[in-house]
Amino acid sequence: GTVILAYSGGLDTSCILVWLKEQGYDVIAFLANIGQDEDFEAARIKAEKLGAKKVFIEDLRSEFVEDFIWPSVQANAVYEDRYLLGTAIARPCIARSQVEIARREGAQFVSHGATGKGNDQIRFELTCYALYPEVEIIAPWRIPDFYNRFRGRTDLMEYAQKHGIPVPVTPKAPWSMDANLMHISYESGILENPKSHAPADLYLMTKNPEDSPNTPDVLEIEFGNGVPLKVTNVKEGKSKNSPLDIFSYLNEIGGKHGVGRIDIVENRFIGMKSRGIYETPGGTILLQAHLDIETFTMDKEVRRIKQGLGIKFSELVYNGFWYSPECDFVRHCINKSQENVQGKVQLSVFKGQVYILGRESPKSLYNEELVSMDVQGNYDPCDASGFIRINAVRLREHHRLQGVSSIK
Ligand code: ARG
Ligand code: SIN
Repeated sequence: GTVILAYSGGLDTSCILVWLKEQGYDVIAFLANIGQDEDFEAARIKAEKLGAKKVFIEDLRSEFVEDFIWPSVQANAVYEDRYLLGTAIARPCIARSQVEIARREGAQFVSHGATGKGNDQIRFELTCYALYPEVEIIAPWRIPDFYNRFRGRTDLMEYAQKHGIPVPVTPKAPWSMDANLMHISYESGILENPKSHAPADLYLMTKNPEDSPNTPDVLEIEFGNGVPLKVTNVKEGKSKNSPLDIFSYLNEIGGKHGVGRIDIVENRFIGMKSRGIYETPGGTILLQAHLDIETFTMDKEVRRIKQGLGIKFSELVYNGFWYSPECDFVRHCINKSQENVQGKVQLSVFKGQVYILGRESPKSLYNEELVSMDVQGNYDPCDASGFIRINAVRLREHHRLQGVSSIK
């Protein structure tokens, strides 16, 4: 049969390619460009040399921004209060494209190089099953014949040497990386000890805030339907309009000022805790800007419900359920909540931080006259007495039962 392999050009998936051929499959290599720094043409040539029947390189950058990053911005998506889900949202994007190719090529099988202990295998495979129910998945790192043969990097290197797979000349960084437009994540290797600090040269997307410029960049981000429509550098007067350009520019500015670095221990779906380091410069700026324009334009009670949905969304996406009835439902609700989330936010980016400076919106629910200390507005202060007393009914009852003794 024919198998579509998610190929990265690296040592692991190169060995997987050759191994799949050894097992008798016709292998089609699939490379997704989601904004990682990669020589795609070199990877194409490599895959062809290793015997791939065909190689597909898909530029998914725009659809990654519009179909995956933008909904996450609308949701203020954050997992366990800190992680902006850069890897989690990339997996359904990649797998969607892979499954499209599988259908087009009449391939029954898809394969990937994710390990058997992680989240990525789940995200990847749930997406494949959801969009191509008849698919058969080959996950070599869960097949005893494969993982017993390749017990470490030296086994992979040896196999590579034997099968004409170019062996990487530069020594591998002592950690594993996953890079795309949204972020870079770093895990495993020397980072597995949660106490040891990340070396300063690990970060590739962001400058150390200690070495970042001493003058801020001031940006104006214009939102419509809860997603950015335009970003302008206020001092330089230049602006970006397309989703991909906007997001790339926010990465550039955020990276320059060291925005969006985190070092966390998180809970994998599979039940174990893992230590991860992430840099999400553009996503972190957008999260702050979106939170601001959203609160400015959204009804208080809608906002509360929507906030809960955002947490739900984040868990679903982390666990691999982007394509599920429940996530579809949550995304629709969140999208509905964004109807009036429009306007402009001005902010400064400086020394690892995002400082909101001001906002304006035609859909603002902010009433300067109503809130002003100097103007009466359509509001009678006497009403507040009753409002407070009614709210106090319960508190007075509680005190009556507990007695004075319970109060410190
Ligand atoms: N722990 C993060 C997540 O589950 C990052 C995973 C990184 N993946 C990788 N293949 N290196 O989303
Ligand atoms: C992997 O196991 O392939 C990377 C880590 C993860 O998926 O959580």
